[in-house]
Amino acid sequence: MSLAQRRILLGVSGGIAAYKSCDLVRRLRGLGAEVRVVMTENATRFVGPATFQALSGEPVRISLWDDSAEAAMGHIELARWAERILIAPASAELLARLAHGHANDLLSTLCLASAAPLHVAPAMNQQMWAHPAVQANLQTLRQRGVLVWGPAVGEQACGDVGSGRMLEPEALRDAMVASFGGGMLDGLRVLISAGPTYEDIDPVRFIGNRSSGRMGFALAEAAALEGAQVTLVAGPVGLPTPAGVGVRVDVRSAAQMHAAVLNAAAEADIYIGTAAVGDYRPAEVAKRKVKKQAGADLVLQLAENPDILASLSAQAAHPFLVGFAAETHDVLIYAHEKLQRKGLDMIAANQVGEGLGFEASENALSVVWDGGSIDLARASKSVLARQLVGIVAERFRAARP
Ligand code: CTP
Repeated sequence: MSLAQRRILLGVSGGIAAYKSCDLVRRLRGLGAEVRVVMTENATRFVGPATFQALSGEPVRISLWDDSAEAAMGHIELARWAERILIAPASAELLARLAHGHANDLLSTLCLASAAPLHVAPAMNQQMWAHPAVQANLQTLRQRGVLVWGPAVGEQACGDVGSGRMLEPEALRDAMVASFGGGMLDGLRVLISAGPTYEDIDPVRFIGNRSSGRMGFALAEAAALEGAQVTLVAGPVGLPTPAGVGVRVDVRSAAQMHAAVLNAAAEADIYIGTAAVGDYRPAEVAKRKVKKQAGADLVLQLAENPDILASLSAQAAHPFLVGFAAETHDVLIYAHEKLQRKGLDMIAANQVGEGLGFEASENALSVVWDGGSIDLARASKSVLARQLVGIVAERFRAARP
């Protein structure tokens, strides 16, 4: 990874996450980037300009009306200098000003005066983040091509728990590297399904499975970091959308996932099916809650769900297909068999149990394709995701030069 000689303008607005942006400056410079920091007045209440000045090695700018700074590098010159503008943290107030095109301080003026791609890393209280006014502003910015990185879900400085934490400096640095391209999946569109499916029995009960969605979400993040345009179709999981994922479609049942994937597949070069799709659904979904009949067993009739991968491989023109298989035994034998039976280009098989696979943070994979295989040793799902994305990119280029 390198950002050698890349010119990044880091905007810091007022929020407690501003302290994390100090580390971000270090990390960007660590990869060779030139970083110039512009702070809003409010940001200076959280972190002193001297800190950013020392870390960036450049004067920090705050005001439009600073004559000596304007004489050294005028604000229009600074706007032209930047190859990327990243605002981290981006407060609700700053997002509102950007959405409405305000130019009432140096940072907002620079955003209007620069042709450089604009990225924002929002940080705010979860209640503020969820407010329709904030979401409407984000929608406006997204429609204008602004990339929104994060926020993450978790514990907040105010004691709340929820969505609104700024992404960690490392994740922002990686997203910045990816934004300059040079990734293994540059220009490719990758579709990923993740998580379980829920098959409703009645309004209060369903049949589900223990898939956490973490492997698929890690793959979505890894693919985006390699420059792919990522669409993520997610079953019911409580996970935040990873940085860089372009489109997320939330579904519940296998039938919905089947429809969402087939709909998006026409626009995809690669499909990675990590979702644990329910093979069966209740033949009838009761409209009212099924009542217990004391003393009698209940028989549930199940109907077979369509197989998403098989539906795709049956199409004349379909994306490069990567399947997943979770097995408790004879992993490789089943992997080869599924590769053939489902007409896949590649399959990643894992052994579940003993702290691996479902609900676990670690995994180990055997990746198999026609004519080769590779074992990826036990590691965190994010490390495995990066390795797997590398193999997918290589096999894709070999299969479809
Ligand atoms: N899959 C799918 N559509 C389904 C079921 C599974 O696309 N209706 C995909 C999963 O996303 C995953 C792979 O198939 O990539 C997993 O296959 P698996 O369910 O393990 O295989 P089965 O054919 O169900 O075989 P078995 O139940 O015998 O393991």
